[in-house]
Amino acid sequence: MSVSPLPDRALLRCQVAGTGAWLPERVLTNADLEKMVETNDEWIVSRTGIRERRLAAKEEHTSTMGARAAAAALEAAGVAASEVEMILCATITPDMPFPCTACLIQKEIGASRAFCFDLEAACTGYIYGLEVGRRFIESGAYKTVLVVASDKLSSITDWKDRNTCVLFGDGASAALLRPSTGAREILSASLGASGEQAGLLYMPGGGAQHPASAKTVEQGLHFLKMNGREVYKHAVVNMARASEEAIARAGFKPTDIAWIIPHQANLRIIQGLAERLELGMERCVVNLDRYGNISAASAGIALHEAVCDGRLKKGDLLLLVAFGAGLTWGAAVLRW
Ligand code: ACO
Repeated sequence: MSVSPLPDRALLRCQVAGTGAWLPERVLTNADLEKMVETNDEWIVSRTGIRERRLAAKEEHTSTMGARAAAAALEAAGVAASEVEMILCATITPDMPFPCTACLIQKEIGASRAFCFDLEAACTGYIYGLEVGRRFIESGAYKTVLVVASDKLSSITDWKDRNTCVLFGDGASAALLRPSTGAREILSASLGASGEQAGLLYMPGGGAQHPASAKTVEQGLHFLKMNGREVYKHAVVNMARASEEAIARAGFKPTDIAWIIPHQANLRIIQGLAERLELGMERCVVNLDRYGNISAASAGIALHEAVCDGRLKKGDLLLLVAFGAGLTWGAAVLRW
């Protein structure tokens, strides 16, 4: 019996070979929100930096958006869907509890060889996804891994709650991971979580604890709930800590980072993070003014936009960093 030789582990490194993103066309501005809840543009811009967000149409689901971002990442990498061996979808708004959204994406893009599963780490989903995908590549077992991050937060938003409805939007991003062939590489990551703070940001209804019923709907348990002020406090501290750890693991110092590509929840959080890392805001990729917070998808959309507009130069060190429900947090350092 002949078996394939074990791969040379020292040579196994992983790169992001292509990125993709997809955003719905419909724009909801702060002026539109002024007509829906007791809020105003000045409050939203000064507290968050958000000016408008995108909302998916009824027929645009988490899987639909994810499949479009995935197709874009495959095209950017010059890889056919038939070559994909694994699809991981990070989301907190799956099309349905099961089957997993990754399976629905597989069908939509025609990646019939791939095995599929979802990963739930809220806004940290893209970074958790990159780290899981990277390890599958580095093990030598797989050569083509698709990480998709897609969220349709409008489907779990209480449009009568001004504390949350001004913050979120819909969209998707994707990264195609392959073994590294040059300098481009995912160098390191640092992931963390604290279930102690699970109650700060959650959606109580529709799961096994509170199965959907007329009562859960009446009580609004199918909407996202957030203690924004408390979440904020944990965000900057944990993002900074994860960033410092990931940068040190890669063998660098914060000033070596060319671009911070953060989760897009709040401009003040990004400013606080940059300050702690002693890096200027000119090194931060920001798009929350146009899209708001799209949970798992946000960091990947920011990366994709920075790739497309030519900001990233060959060899640049990138810091991807995020924070979200769980609570979860994570950072990854990439050489571009
Ligand atoms: N318009 C006008 N006033 C408002 C609005 C609004 N949309 N929302 C809240 N207010 C009011 C509040 O009622 C409060 O009034 P009060 O002082 O009379 O009680 C006042 O504004 C201040 O409210 P705070 O909640 O203290 O405002 P804060 O400055 O903390 O900003 C925000 C709120 C934007 C939510 C901020 O706390 C934040 O960004 N938190 C972090 C969110 C986050 O990062 N989430 C993680 C990712 S999401 C995920 O994982 C799905």
